[in-house]
Amino acid sequence: MTDASEWQGRTGESWATEWRRTDRSFSLLTEQLLAATRQFRFKTVLDVGCGAGELALAIARGRPEVSVTGIDISLQLVDVANSRAGNLTNIRFEACDAAAWTATPDKAPDLIISRHGVMFFDDPAAAFAHLAGQAQSGAGLLFSCFRERVRNPFFTEITRLLPQAPEPAPADAPGPFAFADSERVRGILTAAGWADFAAKPLDLPMIAGAGDDPVEEAVAYFLKIGPAARAAAELDPAARERFITRLRELLSRHCFGGIVSLPAAMWLITARKG
Ligand SMILES: C[S@@+](CC[C@H](N)C(=O)[O-])C[C@H]1O[C@@H](n2cnc3c(N)ncnc32)[C@H](O)[C@@H]1O
Repeated sequence: MTDASEWQGRTGESWATEWRRTDRSFSLLTEQLLAATRQFRFKTVLDVGCGAGELALAIARGRPEVSVTGIDISLQLVDVANSRAGNLTNIRFEACDAAAWTATPDKAPDLIISRHGVMFFDDPAAAFAHLAGQAQSGAGLLFSCFRERVRNPFFTEITRLLPQAPEPAPADAPGPFAFADSERVRGILTAAGWADFAAKPLDLPMIAGAGDDPVEEAVAYFLKIGPAARAAAELDPAARERFITRLRELLSRHCFGGIVSLPAAMWLITARKG
């Protein structure tokens, strides 16, 4: 489970320092999301749970005529996103909870997007109903999220290396796998006023390490971000060293052509305000 307080605390801080590696790990997904935006006509975009802003910034750079707002509950991540915006004039970032964000009357979004930022809502039904209320009539919705944990070696293979794997959170608890069941997502969105639901499976490698020493790079990344980072930080020094050794061995087996990557299974969800 990863709730709002964690994003506003230690998890948000780690993501704020590791945004470059995170953007690299999600780079193939970002391409898919950007390609999927082409099925919508839009002028005003809201990126929900925008984190350090990569997806919002990519749209703002590529479409200067489009106005983009990124929102995130983590102040640290919004600070990073703002610092990356440079002199772009068509983008702004706000620190706020998506379930409480209000559009200014001339800036109601006609496309709401998210790269893995919407499965952490405490009350997804309320949050998506609220977002529908803020969006223009006929607005598009496009987001990515993980499929089941067992289909994601990115999670399972890493947590297996811990002396004690963390207890899996209940299926509907806020967290990376809260939207693994696409029928649950369909139910939530339909009840919240979103129609034309579609879920497209995506199987993509997530890149954990590259550069001069891809394995050490990937080790450093997984010690800061991902399924075992918190548990590893709490191990005693000897157990932590054993975990790091096993992590290094695992990541070496996933290193090909100077890149360490692990398979991940995701959904690309689309819908339209009904
Ligand atoms: C897995 S991260 C993804 C961040 C970013 N979209 C990316 O791809 O790098 C999830 C993000 O959702 C944000 N988040 C979680 N709950 C939220 C909420 N209720 N409202 C706004 N943002 C939220 C977190 O702070 C975090 O930045």
